[in-house]
Amino acid sequence: MDASAASMLWTLIIILAAAAAASSVHPPQQQSYGVGCIAAERAALLSFKEGVMADPLRLLDSWQGAGDCCRWNGVGCSNRTGHVVKLDLRNTLYWDDQRQVRLDNPHAMRGQVSTSLLALRRLKYLYLSGNNLGGPGIAIPSFLGSLESLVYLNLSCIDFFGEVPTQLGNLSRLSYLDVGSMYYSGQIFSSDLSWLGRLSSLKYLDMSGVNLSMVSDWAHVVNMLPNLRVLNLELCQLTRSNPPLLHSNLTVLEKLVLSSNNFYGPLATNWFWGITTLRTLEVEFCSLYGPLPDSLGNMTALQVLDMQDNDNITGMFPPTLKNLCNLQEVFTGTNLSGDITEQMERLPKCAWDKLQALNLDATNMTGNLPVWLVNLTNLKDLSVSGNQLSGPVPLGLGALTKLTILYLGHNNLTGIISEDYLANLCNMVILDLSYTSLEVVVGSTWTPPFKLIRAQLASCQLGPGFPILFKHQKGIIYIDVSNAGIADAIPSWFWDEISYAFYVDMSHNQIDGELPAKLEARTRQELHLNSNQLKGSIPQLLRNITKLDISRNSLSAPLPSDFQAPELAALVLFSNYIPGSVPLSICDLQIFGYP
Ligand SMILES: *[C@@H]1O[C@H](CO)[C@@H](O)[C@H](O)[C@H]1NC(C)=O
Ligand SMILES: *[C@@H]1O[C@H](CO)[C@@H](O)[C@H](O)[C@H]1NC(C)=O
Ligand SMILES: *[C@@H]1O[C@H](CO)[C@@H](O)[C@H](O)[C@H]1NC(C)=O
Ligand SMILES: *[C@@H]1O[C@H](CO)[C@@H](O)[C@H](O)[C@H]1NC(C)=O
Ligand SMILES: *[C@@H]1O[C@H](CO)[C@@H](O)[C@H](O)[C@H]1NC(C)=O
Ligand SMILES: *[C@@H]1O[C@H](CO)[C@@H](O)[C@H](O)[C@H]1NC(C)=O
Ligand SMILES: *[C@@H]1O[C@H](CO)[C@@H](O)[C@H](O)[C@H]1NC(C)=O
Ligand SMILES: *[C@@H]1O[C@H](CO)[C@@H](O)[C@H](O)[C@H]1NC(C)=O
Ligand SMILES: *[C@@H]1O[C@H](CO)[C@@H](O)[C@H](O)[C@H]1NC(C)=O
Ligand SMILES: *[C@@H]1O[C@H](CO)[C@@H](O)[C@H](O)[C@H]1NC(C)=O
Ligand SMILES: *[C@@H]1O[C@H](CO)[C@@H](O)[C@H](O)[C@H]1NC(C)=O
Ligand SMILES: *[C@@H]1O[C@H](CO)[C@@H](O)[C@H](O)[C@H]1NC(C)=O
Repeated sequence: MDASAASMLWTLIIILAAAAAASSVHPPQQQSYGVGCIAAERAALLSFKEGVMADPLRLLDSWQGAGDCCRWNGVGCSNRTGHVVKLDLRNTLYWDDQRQVRLDNPHAMRGQVSTSLLALRRLKYLYLSGNNLGGPGIAIPSFLGSLESLVYLNLSCIDFFGEVPTQLGNLSRLSYLDVGSMYYSGQIFSSDLSWLGRLSSLKYLDMSGVNLSMVSDWAHVVNMLPNLRVLNLELCQLTRSNPPLLHSNLTVLEKLVLSSNNFYGPLATNWFWGITTLRTLEVEFCSLYGPLPDSLGNMTALQVLDMQDNDNITGMFPPTLKNLCNLQEVFTGTNLSGDITEQMERLPKCAWDKLQALNLDATNMTGNLPVWLVNLTNLKDLSVSGNQLSGPVPLGLGALTKLTILYLGHNNLTGIISEDYLANLCNMVILDLSYTSLEVVVGSTWTPPFKLIRAQLASCQLGPGFPILFKHQKGIIYIDVSNAGIADAIPSWFWDEISYAFYVDMSHNQIDGELPAKLEARTRQELHLNSNQLKGSIPQLLRNITKLDISRNSLSAPLPSDFQAPELAALVLFSNYIPGSVPLSICDLQIFGYP
């Protein structure tokens, strides 16, 4: 060995010694310097994997062998120490919007959470949401309360049962705790929340769907959390509407969700009105009643105010509402009553150009829509259905080009909705003019600029010609044009437009002409054509027609001998002129569970 090689070796030894000194700040451990991970932690992860019985998305496929576990899917390590600091194995739940049911998540991992995770002493982020890691009799594991480095714990939408472990109160560094389980609501509960008070770093708490019916002092417990920014206690079986807090610690709270709890109390005396940092307040479906308090006007940061489905919220918006210059979305409760223009004049002028959603459905209001509606230039959702509004719809509505949702139904509105109203509403997806005296009048060559998803146009005036409104609406899933004065034949293009609709109602018109020889849809479909003047024969029904009502028409040909409609559950034919007998093949139809 020559001198320069020797000095290089010395240099190397010194560097290694320095590295060892640096790492000795932490307990001795098997380090693998970027190429591997800590062996004991790798073993812990492999044990966790053994607890997983099914892994349809193959999230854990890379979890094998003696390699660098820091490179395994969902695993994150500290660059400095090599410790596993993050485990992200989340899955998404499926929610069927049409039928409003949770679908079993075919992608969820199934199994149990292994205690081996305890070896991950430096774990900061644990994200297991949306997996089936619970099951009957399986509670949120209490040992998670010993993972004392945790900053973020997301156990939402897991099928756990039983009591939320109080040991979670030991996680003194926790900033985010999500045990929200709306889809499994009531399966987990807590009878005493005092452990929460120890989590003083908490910024985000979601316990939605957790049964808290036995906790009466919940508002005082959350008031121990001075860093809280988001609090979600939706559907928690809370029963007591808490009076104002004498002293609020919640000086940074931005979002409060208390929807779907039966408080049975006055809206005006709730503890949350004092919290002036709130941007979002959601108290839907809470059985709160009485007028809004003047102190609403102190909440100048408020962007979203949602009080829908509280039966007896009464009176006018308080005059102090004018201070809320950040208001973007307002969903009111019922029975505000009074003149809609007077109510709307109380909306803060300084927020007119920020307002995106104004929902005054079923609020028992009267009068005309104000002409200055046009000044709410960013409005996307205007819902005023189910009131006693009268008079014409102001033409300015047609200038609200961002409108996507327009509910005007069940009112006494009158007048004509012409092309001038509709020509610029390119973004509209929901249109409701039902049960009004409005008349839609457009030229026969007009092309709608929008692509509707829902058209609720029952009992308004669309006819006598077949509504051209449905041209180029292939995405539509719901159409109700019953009793809409249509006295025309159904044009052939229409069947193609509605092939993705699950509900089509054209009953109680004077629709004439014949039906096409075959009826089929690209999604399961209910079709109501009853009480019209249809002639000719009954079409052959193909896949996906689940219900067909063509009663009270003038159909006069025999039934087709072969229905070929495997999903048909209801076929209503009475009051026609159908000769012959009922073909026996009808007995072969497998009747699907249709109400
Ligand atoms: C580690 O380093 C990589 C690359 O520099 C970086 O992308 C990653 O975010 C770092 N991870 C952590 C946990 O800091
Ligand atoms: C927890 O996970 C769910 C589902 O992935 C997500 O919607 C929620 O925002 C997460 N919670 C937090 C605090 O990040
Ligand atoms: C964790 O919490 C439980 C119950 O809240 C308590 O009995 C236990 O002593 C705590 N453990 C530690 C290590 O602090
Ligand atoms: C919530 O817990 C209470 C008290 O244990 C119980 O009576 C009630 O049935 C539970 N509610 C639900 C929806 O599980
Ligand atoms: C405010 O929070 C602190 C710290 O969590 C707590 O000690 C105090 O009791 C709280 N005040 C009230 C009125 O709850
Ligand atoms: C909140 O509003 C009420 C009524 O308008 C007023 O009396 C009170 O002083 C206000 N409180 C704060 C903190 O501004
Ligand atoms: C709301 O009003 C209805 C009808 O007047 C009444 O039956 C109901 O008890 C009221 N609910 C509350 C919470 O006051
Ligand atoms: C609606 O409000 C009016 C006037 O404030 C009141 O007379 C009526 O009883 C209320 N209706 C309900 C159901 O609360
Ligand atoms: C609607 O308001 C009128 C007048 O204020 C009131 O008499 C009536 O009870 C209210 N109706 C409902 C359903 O609240
Ligand atoms: C609506 O906006 C127009 C144009 O900006 C303005 O002239 C008019 O005064 C506004 N209407 C009201 C009621 O403020
Ligand atoms: C609305 O129309 C119905 C039915 O036409 C009528 O009974 C009612 O008096 C009308 N209400 C108003 C406020 O015009
Ligand atoms: C019937 O509907 C289902 C979805 O509901 C769809 O996947 C299927 O392609 C449809 N069948 C036909 C023949 O269009």
